[in-house]
Amino acid sequence: MKNDLNYAVELIKKADGLLITAGAGMSVDSGLPDFRSSGGFWNAYPPFQAMGLGFSQVATPNFYLEHTEQAYWFFAHRLIQYRNATPHEGYQILKRWGEQMKHGYFVFTSNVDGHFQKAGFDNKRIYEVHGTLERMQCFHNCQGKSWSSAEFQPIVDDEHYRVISPKPICPDCGGMARQNVMMFDDWFYCDYYYRFKEVALEEWLRKVGNLVVIEIGAGKAIPTVRNFSERTAKQKKGGFIRINPQDAGVPKMHFLSLEMGALEALRALDNILNLDRNS
Ligand SMILES: NC(=O)c1ccc[n+]([C@@H]2O[C@H](COP(=O)([O-])OP(=O)(O)OC[C@H]3O[C@@H](n4cnc5c(N)ncnc54)[C@H](O)[C@@H]3O)[C@@H](O)[C@H]2O)c1
Ligand SMILES: [Zn+2]
Repeated sequence: MKNDLNYAVELIKKADGLLITAGAGMSVDSGLPDFRSSGGFWNAYPPFQAMGLGFSQVATPNFYLEHTEQAYWFFAHRLIQYRNATPHEGYQILKRWGEQMKHGYFVFTSNVDGHFQKAGFDNKRIYEVHGTLERMQCFHNCQGKSWSSAEFQPIVDDEHYRVISPKPICPDCGGMARQNVMMFDDWFYCDYYYRFKEVALEEWLRKVGNLVVIEIGAGKAIPTVRNFSERTAKQKKGGFIRINPQDAGVPKMHFLSLEMGALEALRALDNILNLDRNS
């Protein structure tokens, strides 16, 4: 089913729990690049293209060892970009809908930008399946710990692809620290912090009787979010709404897709909901 806003509103109105699942497209309307689109962030890193390196080679622990300066710059540059951006109004719309439901909301996202927290969502209800740049860990994961990146306020030299300020270090072993984000070939990734969120999400799902899944801006290349969304909606016999301007296809007849940008779709749905409530 395609672009049926009224049907989407019916699914939201009857739900007692809102599962928000989000990929990089959710942050595009906040002015942040997604990943693989033509305006995506991968095309914005000419130094790596010049080195003949693809994302799957740069986003690796090995790149930290072989090109330490550029690896830290890449981490810090994105962190600064995300911190400088403000989550768009669609986040508030989702939060309001979720808070009005009996069991509230839960967020499942592959985004690493920390924008659900920044928009005021409850951190206990956000499962960041690939980690977040707002946390750090020991490069070698010496104690299986991660910690907040808040104190890491890097200064970057974008011309020479370097971090000028001190690089983060592990408080336990004194070695290198890095972002707590799952990279490729990442045998050192520390998922400790997120496993609690995963369990909390499972418990929450068990309580919800009438689920609606709203999936926003999740791409096809790394389909973690798309697969989880479809599987969960199916298992819970819940409603399913996919919001995506380019990759809106859905596998089942009763799954709904809105071929629109995140903010445009959420505003349109919110207008109908408000009209319904006021009539
Ligand atoms: N903001 C972030 O945190 C961020 C940004 C880029 C990449 N990543 C990482 O890269 C991986 C990439 O996977 P992905 O699927 O999230 O990204 P992706 O770039 O592969 O896919 C983005 C999707 O968003 C859609 N989109 C584009 N503009 C949109 C808009 N205005 N509204 C709604 N949807 C829009 C695109 O059609 C596409 O399907 C993830 O693992 C993630 O960790 C994170
Ligand atoms: Zn350490």
